Amino acid sequence: MQTKIKNICCIGAGYVGGPTMAVIAKNCPNIAVNVVDVNQERINLWNSKNIDDIPIYEPGLHEIVKKCRGKNLNFSSDVKGCIKKADMIFISVNTPTKKKGIGAGKASDLKWVEVCAREVAQYSSGYTIVVEKSTLPVKTAEVIKNILEAAQIYPNTEHSVKFDVLSNPEFLAEGSAIKDLENPDRVLIGGENIEAMNALTNIYEKWVPKEKILHTNIWSSELAKLTANAFLAQRISSINSISALCEATGADVREVARAIGTDTRIGSKFLDSGPGFGGSCFKKDILNLVYLSNHYGLNEVANFWESVVTLNTWHQHRISQLIVKKLFGTITGKKICILGFSFKENTNDTRESAAITICKDLLEEGALLAIHDPKVERKQIEKDLSTKENPNIKFLESNMYKYSEGNWCYAEEINEAIQGSDAVIVLTGWGIYKNIDWGKVTKIIRRPAWVFDVRSILSKEDFEESDLNLWMIGDGSII
Ligand code: UDX
Ligand code: UDX
Repeated sequence: MQTKIKNICCIGAGYVGGPTMAVIAKNCPNIAVNVVDVNQERINLWNSKNIDDIPIYEPGLHEIVKKCRGKNLNFSSDVKGCIKKADMIFISVNTPTKKKGIGAGKASDLKWVEVCAREVAQYSSGYTIVVEKSTLPVKTAEVIKNILEAAQIYPNTEHSVKFDVLSNPEFLAEGSAIKDLENPDRVLIGGENIEAMNALTNIYEKWVPKEKILHTNIWSSELAKLTANAFLAQRISSINSISALCEATGADVREVARAIGTDTRIGSKFLDSGPGFGGSCFKKDILNLVYLSNHYGLNEVANFWESVVTLNTWHQHRISQLIVKKLFGTITGKKICILGFSFKENTNDTRESAAITICKDLLEEGALLAIHDPKVERKQIEKDLSTKENPNIKFLESNMYKYSEGNWCYAEEINEAIQGSDAVIVLTGWGIYKNIDWGKVTKIIRRPAWVFDVRSILSKEDFEESDLNLWMIGDGSII
């Protein structure tokens, strides 16, 4: 028997749930897709009249939301009502790292997932397929299944219920989410019941070639997601470790990356040295793997993966320290322009952004930071840096000691941020920063001035005519 899905509910209207459901709605016009979230403010933003106000910036997303919203794509806070109607429910809530208790600092806090499973058990009716979309520790499906099975044993009086649980991890990267969803390398479906797996396969088959849809058992699927993120993060820590060595030895990390990337066994992707990886997934997922390995007594495995995170943290502080060193060992009262605050370009997401660590370090050293980012809002930076901005420093020159040290302000314009500063630090690879006229910058910056290109997006030739000192990540030719 084939299960035909007509109504989907996705719990969690975040960076994963929102874009994923938009793409399903676009490609499956006959399926009603309801995205629910307990955060009413977020839902209101998804429903904003002005499409520019939807809460997530992601190239291509606005167009899809514009096309499908109000037709087969709806955003609502009616969790109960939408669960009731659905024959397939995606769980796409956040799973932050536990702050206290067993596994604090490493294990994922599954409280929201459990809340969702209980809501599904309570409100759903008939046969329902529950899909794990959030990245979860291995064996979470079992938790969900146990909760749902309890509901089957004690059916509520109104309806009889039956569930199947699938793992369908999402591999999209922020900033290219729509592209990744429309044309994925693979879609992974882990499960036990082939009928349920086929029901989900039928949905993806509307736009993904069949050979790209992989079926595995549920635990392999859960572990594959953690492993994929751990491997990707490991590559970044590897190349960042080499960047430090390049700077010490006179080599150039871009040349090294190009040389090793042509080896087809290594491959050329994910070899860009930068300020250290950020984003909501890499660190959390590796720490999950570490916790899991320790749990099974595999301490060497745990230590191996933990070193990827340790290197990343060290690397971020390394950048802050070398900036201080280049600026004569002190940045107290010096104005420093920060270009980019999101964890990567083309997203307004700042979770685990290297910019947070680096800015905090510089503030600690007493700098006056003027921060620019084309998509991140002032109030988000305020939250991340845990200090209010001081708009007074915006138009000031360096060495304005009367303003207490360690202040920051938000700059709407790039020039406004650069004006009178001692250094410019490029922390996110936004396209607009590639087009800065450095000749003009010379006139508004305080000399001797440094430009720190931590993303390696600037062109050395653009600096030939200027008297600005350029430092580039992993470039050992600059002393
Ligand atoms: C991601 C991934 O989905 C996940 O794999 C990873 O583990 C954590 O981050 P993301 O969509 O980026 O999730 O998270 P976020 O933007 O925080 O969205 C989650 C949403 O779930 C929030 O809007 C939150 O309000 C909502 N939520 C949370 C519920 O609707 N119900 C809950 O019980 C808990
Ligand atoms: C990642 C995975 O790529 C994706 O498959 C998974 O679903 C979620 O986690 P995301 O965190 O959105 O996606 O972005 P990604 O492009 O992987 O970048 C993560 C971090 O690594 C960013 O801070 C980015 O700037 C950095 N990075 C990436 C590098 O420093 N160098 C690189 O070569 C690539």
